[in-house]
Amino acid sequence: MAVQINPSILSADFARLADEAKAVEGADWLHVDVMDNHFVPNLTLGVPVVESLARATDTPLDCHLMIEAPDRWAPQYVEAGAGSVTFHVEAATAPVRLAREIRAKGARASMALRPATPIEPYEDLLPELDMLLIMTVEPGFGGQAFLDIMLPKIRRTRELISKHGLDLWLQVDGGVSAETIERCADAGADVFVAGSAVYGASDPAEAVRALRTQAES
Ligand code: DX5
Ligand code: ZN
Repeated sequence: MAVQINPSILSADFARLADEAKAVEGADWLHVDVMDNHFVPNLTLGVPVVESLARATDTPLDCHLMIEAPDRWAPQYVEAGAGSVTFHVEAATAPVRLAREIRAKGARASMALRPATPIEPYEDLLPELDMLLIMTVEPGFGGQAFLDIMLPKIRRTRELISKHGLDLWLQVDGGVSAETIERCADAGADVFVAGSAVYGASDPAEAVRALRTQAES
């Protein structure tokens, strides 16, 4: 299970996004948090910024859509240059159709679960996905404390992935840091989003390397 570290630009300086993206070259993906002030109580960026970021960095973009109506918007993020697009199942009208559309347009299709959303009802959807995101904070803000109560859900999801023999990445997002990443890795996560733990560090590229070493240990 190859470990991937995805810095979240939510914790970066939004006036210097191109430089902030370059500061973490060596990371696997750049995690881009799109918020619409409806699905979550915060507002960040949209399609034009993703288009510009895609031109500004060689690191592929992992767009996490915390928005209403992802069925309408997600395909536009693929067109904007995202290599992976994550929609929330709580907001999607037709998650299977949407995942198929994202894949057909050439990106990896990913589905996210808020902390209170169980994985079990979605077991049969897993083959339609390239990645599943388990939120380890309530979505909306960077810098929140990791929710340990999500570890059993990570474990159960890894078991379902193994049971079905799927090549599905399992991402965790929220409060992932030097203190919590090993717990997530032990539970079965293999893709780690880190915002404040990377951009709050004096050397973001070194923080990415350190997190990777910890997750692999
Ligand atoms: C939160 C976002 C996260 C956020 C994580 O809703 O989805 O990607 O940037 O930030 P940290 O790593 O600081 O918890
Ligand atoms: Zn995110």
